[in-house]
Amino acid sequence: MTRKIIIDTDPGQDDAVAILLALASPEEIEVLGITAVAGNVPLALTAKNARIVCELAGKPDVKVFAGCEGPIGRRLVTAEHVHGATGLNGPKLPDPVMELQPQHGVDFIIETLRAEAPGTVTLCPLGPLTNIAMAFRMAPDIVEKVQEVVLMGGAYFEVGNITPAAEFNIYVDPQAAEIVFKSGVPITVMSLDVTHKALVTKKRNDAFRALGTKVGVAVAEMTDFFERFDKEKYGSEGAPLHDPCVTAYLIRPDLFTGRHINVEIETRSELTMGMTVADWWGVSGRDPNAMFMGTIDADGFFELLTERLARL
Ligand code: BDR
Ligand code: CA
Repeated sequence: MTRKIIIDTDPGQDDAVAILLALASPEEIEVLGITAVAGNVPLALTAKNARIVCELAGKPDVKVFAGCEGPIGRRLVTAEHVHGATGLNGPKLPDPVMELQPQHGVDFIIETLRAEAPGTVTLCPLGPLTNIAMAFRMAPDIVEKVQEVVLMGGAYFEVGNITPAAEFNIYVDPQAAEIVFKSGVPITVMSLDVTHKALVTKKRNDAFRALGTKVGVAVAEMTDFFERFDKEKYGSEGAPLHDPCVTAYLIRPDLFTGRHINVEIETRSELTMGMTVADWWGVSGRDPNAMFMGTIDADGFFELLTERLARL
């Protein structure tokens, strides 16, 4: 069955690959729209990058909306040190011709969930949770209409990447994350524990490049740029493809394993701000609120990715 989704994103090279994977998989995924949020780079750039990616995929009809310009109650923290000044450094891609939709991204999320049958729309946040939390706050009636939130964010065993304690997406807007994790909506979390196992090795990147297509070469060049950061920082073999874990999960959930556990968000301590306090060992007695993923079949994931990107 085709799953209807809204991708909420801050592209970002790995966001771009996640979007490409979704757009390459119309049998499993129908993209109702893409909402941009401020995160890796400011909103003007993420809204532009989302359109660059749609055009790269040859899908200029996808609706792209601009959402929130910054987190709820905090100053925006960005990640140009990872993604480059544009957020999509690496390949040379043309400026988009397709227009941004006039509607605000948050209004689009609300309107879509109200219009579609209950339990038929999945939200896929790939950046800070600002847009999703704002939609839940402005229209609490939509929460029970969401089929599932499948998001990239958080960590337990890997702890933090932007601070020693916190993963970037959750750190940028912890208040928003708290709203989403406390909302009661079914949540699946692609944490750093998973995404740091989805590494683009040289062989895997060569396979993208060897597709010989515009998309294959662009993805390889994005990864070439993106990987220098993680190689230096972690000494790893290549860049983790964080966000594509979300869209891969919609196509092949069997590639992932995790635990249904309680996850709370730290919103008060500056030291551990944005930490996902994940009760992996079930010691808190608090009710589970999220399926927290921990493992991935990385070979299966990269085979899927290469096979799907070849379709664009
Ligand atoms: C997350 O932060 C961003 O830099 C990536 O796009 C990903 O969504 C990883 O922590
Ligand atoms: Ca992202």
